[in-house]
Amino acid sequence: MYVSDTASQHIPFLDLVTPHTELEAELTSVFRRALLTASFVGGPMVAEFESAFAAFCGVSHAVAVASGTDALRFAIVAAGVQPGDVVLTVPHTFIATAEAISQAGATPEFVDIDDGTFNMSVERLEYYLEQRCTRDRTGRLVSLRSGGPVTAVVPVHLYGQMADMDSILRVAGKFGLIVIEDACQAHGAEYFSQALNRWMKAGSMGHAAAFSFYPGKNLGACGEGGAVTTNDDRLADQARLLRDHGQVKKYYHDAVGYNGRMDAIQAGILLAKLPHLQDWNARRRHRAAEYRRLLAGVDAVRLPHEPSWSRAVYHLYVIRTAHRESVMSHLKSAGIDTALHYPIPLHLQRAYADLNYSRGDFPVSERVSAEIISLPMFPQLTAEQQARVAAEMEVFLSKAPRKETESEVALLATATRTA
Ligand SMILES: Cc1ncc(COP(=O)(O)O)c(C=O)c1O
Repeated sequence: MYVSDTASQHIPFLDLVTPHTELEAELTSVFRRALLTASFVGGPMVAEFESAFAAFCGVSHAVAVASGTDALRFAIVAAGVQPGDVVLTVPHTFIATAEAISQAGATPEFVDIDDGTFNMSVERLEYYLEQRCTRDRTGRLVSLRSGGPVTAVVPVHLYGQMADMDSILRVAGKFGLIVIEDACQAHGAEYFSQALNRWMKAGSMGHAAAFSFYPGKNLGACGEGGAVTTNDDRLADQARLLRDHGQVKKYYHDAVGYNGRMDAIQAGILLAKLPHLQDWNARRRHRAAEYRRLLAGVDAVRLPHEPSWSRAVYHLYVIRTAHRESVMSHLKSAGIDTALHYPIPLHLQRAYADLNYSRGDFPVSERVSAEIISLPMFPQLTAEQQARVAAEMEVFLSKAPRKETESEVALLATATRTA
């Protein structure tokens, strides 16, 4: 296999300059339009983006907001989650998933992830609802852990791959739970729904969903942004109210809301980028297939699992290896940037110490967070750059002492599952 003699050729984790220079004329004209019309918050560019993004996701409403965290919080509140409720999610995600639940006045409780897809384990969800919850005297489903009523579940479509939504919706339906998709990393990802007998886009299956347009996302703004998507008219109205101080019309407030509106400039930028998203996602999928081919023979690496019902959009390309730290430092010395998404599961974060979880509560999340590496992944990544990443990994890992085999890793994860 080919190894570059120029370790000094830097391979970035993400290239955010090229896509912006490619669209420079269109993007700068957005600034000009905003300056000339002095329409900076809300207005026609926001409305246009909302219709275009709703059509892209295959839903009737997209409500543009100031960030993905706002989108999640507004979706959770607008869907009817009340202060004091318990909302189930996963510990292996960005902290904003749980923060939005906390900010809605609810308590996050965790269920572990699936060892193959890194998304919510339906088996663990069902187990939690059946064995870790009970019915109170009024018939409400309450958590044995906190005593709070369990009213919603937030599956996360992590790294650009959708969670097993048919199964999650089936289990949630059985227990009367609201389902809010955290689609912040999954713009354009698809799931084949057996129940509906067609491919469904991320953001179109739950009661509502939240997207982030943080600059590094598959569809990113030149600043902060987010959107709530839903087919529920009432929920969309409620999200619109929450993002704008609860206003129904200027200075008439029906609810205590937030300042969570999207800037017009960000909406214009997203509108200019949206027609490119499908091509960018296709290029990411192509790069993922190339990594799969290049790394297929590297035994010490476990590649991402994409089930037949999934068309992932590879926001991140995350591999697993027992030699994580040494691989990362070798790649760094070869001029290749990598990242970690995420090194500490949420139940072990200091911010959530008051939830009283312990190490060992979510063995799959804990194991995964210790073994993952995010490799360079972006639409403009070249075949040569990928070949060098793979070659550096292969050469380094061929010399590394073997730790556990893949089946041993899987066995260990199964054997230590508790929660
Ligand atoms: C899974 C997930 N949820 C929520 C968020 C929050 O989005 P934002 O940073 O736009 O508030 C992010 C963004 O990184 C995310 O990756």
